[in-house]
Amino acid sequence: MKYIVTSALPYANGKLHVGHVAGAYLPADIFVRYLRLMGEDVIYICGTDEHGTPISISADKEGVSPKEVVQRYHDSIKAAFDGIGIEFDNFSGTARNEHHILAQQFFTDLYQNQHIKAKSTLQFYCEHDKRYLPDRYVEGTCPKCGATGARGDQCDKCGQIYDTTTLVDPLCKICGNTPIIRETKHWFIHLDRFTDQLKEWISHKSYWKENVRNFMLNLLEQGLIERSITRDLSWGVPVPLPEAEGKVLYVWFDAPIGYISSTVEWAKQIGKPELWKEYWMDPQTQLIHFIGKDNIIFHALIWPAMLMGQNTRYVLPHDIPANEFMNLEGDKISTSRNWAIWVDEFVHDFDGEYLRYYLAANAPEKQDADFSFKDFQQRINGELNNVLGNLANRVFAFAGKQFDGEIKPVALDEMSQSYWSEAQALLIDIKASYQDYQVKRNTRSIMDIARLGNRYFDERKPWMAIKTDPEHVKQTLWLCAKLLSEISVALYPILPKHMQRLRGMMGLKPISRWDDGILEQNLRLVDVSPLFRKIEDSEIEVQLNKLHAMAKAPEAKSYDPLKAQISYDDFSKLDLRLVRILEAKAVPKTDKLMQLKVDLGFETRDLVAGIAQSYKASELVGKTVTMLVNLEPRKIRGIVSNGMILAAHSEGRISLVCPEGGEPGSTVQ
Ligand code: 2FM
Ligand code: ZN
Repeated sequence: MKYIVTSALPYANGKLHVGHVAGAYLPADIFVRYLRLMGEDVIYICGTDEHGTPISISADKEGVSPKEVVQRYHDSIKAAFDGIGIEFDNFSGTARNEHHILAQQFFTDLYQNQHIKAKSTLQFYCEHDKRYLPDRYVEGTCPKCGATGARGDQCDKCGQIYDTTTLVDPLCKICGNTPIIRETKHWFIHLDRFTDQLKEWISHKSYWKENVRNFMLNLLEQGLIERSITRDLSWGVPVPLPEAEGKVLYVWFDAPIGYISSTVEWAKQIGKPELWKEYWMDPQTQLIHFIGKDNIIFHALIWPAMLMGQNTRYVLPHDIPANEFMNLEGDKISTSRNWAIWVDEFVHDFDGEYLRYYLAANAPEKQDADFSFKDFQQRINGELNNVLGNLANRVFAFAGKQFDGEIKPVALDEMSQSYWSEAQALLIDIKASYQDYQVKRNTRSIMDIARLGNRYFDERKPWMAIKTDPEHVKQTLWLCAKLLSEISVALYPILPKHMQRLRGMMGLKPISRWDDGILEQNLRLVDVSPLFRKIEDSEIEVQLNKLHAMAKAPEAKSYDPLKAQISYDDFSKLDLRLVRILEAKAVPKTDKLMQLKVDLGFETRDLVAGIAQSYKASELVGKTVTMLVNLEPRKIRGIVSNGMILAAHSEGRISLVCPEGGEPGSTVQ
């Protein structure tokens, strides 16, 4: 069986932080190392995601080309991965020519197969900068959850994606002005055409993690819609149509294609240019995408649909293990606030494998996890040093002193056998858990084997037994050596460098297969030294001080600017009344609009109000609210709206202005 394992392509727009590593990279690297130990044929593919508006915004700000930004971060990200032993078979980048050609091919196939259609659409346009404002060029309040600082294409808070023009209170990111809405032509992928195929595909994925499967089933239930896959930008993959000049593919359309183009590059680099096809075009290949939870929709829905719409029969994802997020000292990691631990800085101060261990032991597998420096210190000192390091030290020291560093195979007595069986049971569970991406559980189980070893050593009291029964001691050392050998292999996917060093000290050949854990030969210890080092309180203090000193204060709450003064005369023109809501129903095919019938005391009126995201229809009926009744009528979605209900807007939340008392028809002054 072949495996393609991928990690989400990181944006070449910033450095790598521990949150990234915990979600999509370390779990994949561990899985790949495990598969290799099992003798599986696996390639591990990644690269930087080099398009999208954040990169062109950074380039604009710095006054350099996007290529320059991309190259800088590609190199920095790759160096950070090297520093923590994340070893891809290939680490490419999506700005490369091969990738552009393949991404255009993807578009062309979908287009020719009628899955992509052009449509005139409304986009934010900045009159000051004379340009359209795709995605992150505009910022506002999320139309789904009300969070501020939401981008044009997706909200970081709730992870939902939406139609850009539904963004509330939009502002141009370049100049800060409010953009206007203008028409422009874009191309849309008609996801609804894939509904049946996706349903059938997902019906075989009962083994998926619940968060991914439920997300998908929910989306399928809501009904799939068309999604825009082009942007008015100059940086990106040009849309391969003559009428699409000045437009590029949406970054999320081209990015996952990078998994294939990076594999193509890998095959060329190893001198077997056709080899990538044996992975991507074999229906038996297990394609596994490791991602963070914010990427589920793209990998579980849009990307499979894109693959289904190709003329080439590519393999579809077998599994999409999505992890939750890693917070930092109780707060969300934020690159803009510099509330993050940057991998390059961390590995300068600590061994990169200490980070691997901590992130594995504290992996955000089923729920968000928290990185805390004190906890980090506790894990490294209390587990790696005091449990595993201690076992190795005492066994090696004793064997060195009493037997000149030699440990020989001997038959085990009943007590030793029973410890051995306990360890065997844990090892079986560890194997199954690696297969199931349960890294956190495995760090616990492996430490349990080491604890078992320490308990056994204590119980056997070799320092006493040596005086009367050297054979008893030989058994003790032999079982401990067997445990250490098994641990070296079981922990290898998480701590490859340290475990190879442990093997080296035991005089064993480097690990290449899971079965290398089985110990049968004589051991002669070599260059024994402590396996780990303790982390001092003062080191943790330095880290915490640095973190707090470098963090920027959260952005202050922003208020709408005051409007120009008006006269009493102006005000007296407004006819404000109390009205009672008689009927309310959501306007079909909109997220925000509610159609209302209200009682003015002397007549009823129909109107449309943008309050559907804050109120349910049933909550509204019977409410007395304030209304501007002499506003000129306006047609909204084919309904004549006769007046305006007053509401307070704050950070995306809408609260109707409801008086404590008063009858419908009363004037408000
Ligand atoms: O969220 C991100 O960091 C994206 N750059 C992930 C892309 S994954 C894939 F589709 F390439
Ligand atoms: Zn502007």
